[in-house]
Amino acid sequence: MRTAIITGAYGAIGKAIARGVAAQGYHVTLAGRNEQALEDFRKELADKTGNSHISTIAVDFSQQQEIKAAAEKWSGPLHLLINNAATTPPTRMETPQGIEVQFATNVLGYFWMIGYFSEYMKGLDDARIVNVASYWAGDLDLNDLEFKKRHYNNDTVYRQSKQANRMLTVAFADRLKQYGISVLSTHPGDVRSKVSTRLGHGGWESPEEGADTPLYCALDPGLKGVTGKYFAHRHQEPCPFSMNNDEVERLYELCGEY
Ligand SMILES: NC(=O)c1ccc[n+]([C@@H]2O[C@H](COP(=O)([O-])OP(=O)(O)OC[C@H]3O[C@@H](n4cnc5c(N)ncnc54)[C@H](OP(=O)(O)O)[C@@H]3O)[C@@H](O)[C@H]2O)c1
Repeated sequence: MRTAIITGAYGAIGKAIARGVAAQGYHVTLAGRNEQALEDFRKELADKTGNSHISTIAVDFSQQQEIKAAAEKWSGPLHLLINNAATTPPTRMETPQGIEVQFATNVLGYFWMIGYFSEYMKGLDDARIVNVASYWAGDLDLNDLEFKKRHYNNDTVYRQSKQANRMLTVAFADRLKQYGISVLSTHPGDVRSKVSTRLGHGGWESPEEGADTPLYCALDPGLKGVTGKYFAHRHQEPCPFSMNNDEVERLYELCGEY
């Protein structure tokens, strides 16, 4: 049985992604920080899809040690990792380790999940990592990743984090290709959620529409072997952020220093 982990699994788009993956018969592990929300959604998902192979893992993605511990407990192969969890606090906050929260969750959370869990994906048939990013991306400053010098505006900080998701997709794709692991990034859709509401975007698409391109990247047989690419509305689009290899590599190095 193929296995999948979906982060931010009880969020608006995460739920729809999980429904789509569970419907394909995967053993789905729902990952997030709120154990009760995970358990409630686990039951709902099993009931609605008839898939009894639904598990949960409680992890705060801003915490490297929690991700590492979860990976150490993981047993067996992992065919699909969907990094989807994100946050955008209105004011600048830091984790207990002193890392700005959006950078820790949205960027390092993806980075650490791939770093620790890709070990279980090596050498499998059609192993894929999908990083849910956004078209709403930009303003990355490699000299100020944590907004210590710049004014904190949650929208700018969020856009930087989504640019970083897209750049790191390319960095990981290059490194994991030799193990047969594909890494893709996507714009999902514009869906009303905690994140989009905090950004003042609202959202006019349904969660299912929002999950459509992430699911396409995760499951479409035609994308087997395609790696390092950015997709929106089921189409591969050029990613301007990923074209400067020096910057991509510098970001990867900086993330590795945490
Ligand atoms: N909605 C849109 O229009 C839109 C557009 C473009 C891209 N996106 C992207 O789509 C993805 C899903 O977002 P969404 O719109 O579905 O937002 P959402 O409903 O707010 O879901 C975000 C999920 O991430 C979880 N999360 C946040 N911080 C966490 C942490 N430290 N540890 C563990 N889990 C954490 C949240 O859990 P808690 O409830 O516990 O915080 C929630 O389950 C994000 O990557 C977002 O950037 C969304």
